[in-house]
Amino acid sequence: MSLTTFSFPTPTLFGAGALAELPARLTRLGIRRPLVVTDPGLPPTPAFKLLQQTLGVAGQGTDWRLYSGVHPNPIESDVTESAQAYRQGQCDGVIAFGGGSALDVGKAARLLIKRPALALADFDYNADWTGLPPLVCIPTTAGTGSEVGRSSVITIAATHRKKVVFHPELLARLVILDPELTRGLPPKLTAATGADALTHCIESYTCPTFHPMCDGIALEGVRLVIDALPRACRNGNDLDARGRMLVAAAMGAVAFQKDLGATHSLAHPLSTLCGLHHGLANALCLITVMRFNSERQPGLYRRVGIACGLDVMKGTDAEADRVTIEFLAGFLASLGLASKLREHGVKESQLEALVAQAVEDPCHATNPVPVTAADFRNLYLSVL
Ligand SMILES: [Fe+2]
Repeated sequence: MSLTTFSFPTPTLFGAGALAELPARLTRLGIRRPLVVTDPGLPPTPAFKLLQQTLGVAGQGTDWRLYSGVHPNPIESDVTESAQAYRQGQCDGVIAFGGGSALDVGKAARLLIKRPALALADFDYNADWTGLPPLVCIPTTAGTGSEVGRSSVITIAATHRKKVVFHPELLARLVILDPELTRGLPPKLTAATGADALTHCIESYTCPTFHPMCDGIALEGVRLVIDALPRACRNGNDLDARGRMLVAAAMGAVAFQKDLGATHSLAHPLSTLCGLHHGLANALCLITVMRFNSERQPGLYRRVGIACGLDVMKGTDAEADRVTIEFLAGFLASLGLASKLREHGVKESQLEALVAQAVEDPCHATNPVPVTAADFRNLYLSVL
């Protein structure tokens, strides 16, 4: 049996109005002048207004600085500029506030604060990364779960390729999950980000790594999404549903320390080459991958079906999978997530480039069954 690390270490403050605790928590973490890292879409939103009210205006309350230049798929300069803003503002901690991109940049900026000459492409896992500035992560979407992750995905300028920077020291010291902050998310984005969380739970549960703790978390995450996502899409002000989705998203990301599968390998190129939203790309590919996996390993999804509330305890493995997959296909369709890739501008002429990147993507290494280039081509064609 190989050695495995089971790790669930992020203190998480959850609940409507939890953001009000932020000033006291900053003090407890020794942060007197935080740098808020976010993207340019956030400052005009009610969520950001809540943050401003909580931190206070200059001269009253917390003395804080702002970097709001994070790109949707974050680039290296977002990280270097954040680190510069931190130094110029003589800050002593980071608040990453926003979707997955802002959280990833906030996490990674601390590496350059410790080592200003670092080129992210040359990140050395074995260097001494202790003593990074304390980080508080506050998500304003419920999907990526980046707030509880220990990696950042940053596009390197010189190569135009995404670099995954992974280190346990990147973890936040505190996560605040406050459904008041996701209230304003429009239904389409709520559905797409929620589908990302669902995909994390399903792919991490079915990835073959031995991790029963993550398996339990993943299945409960599925149950939460099935219950809460339709409600959050129907009524954005349903704070109970919003809160459950925030927790489900964090659970999905905790679970995928096990790793992911072929759906993410199909989805990543759809974002980098065709500009699709990551959650949408996952939603459009999930069902075809489930069918592919189930044909080769029947019974894979029986417990996913039970987590969905389906009566699939008895019956053959193939039947349990079929019922579960049909239910999830209907679930995604009811959220407006059943369109074809071509409806989102993906062209058949892009197929070979998509397949090449999907094959190179590391996620499918932990898919429950092997996936070849020919399989990836057929999977794309089935949803094109
Ligand atoms: Fe994802």
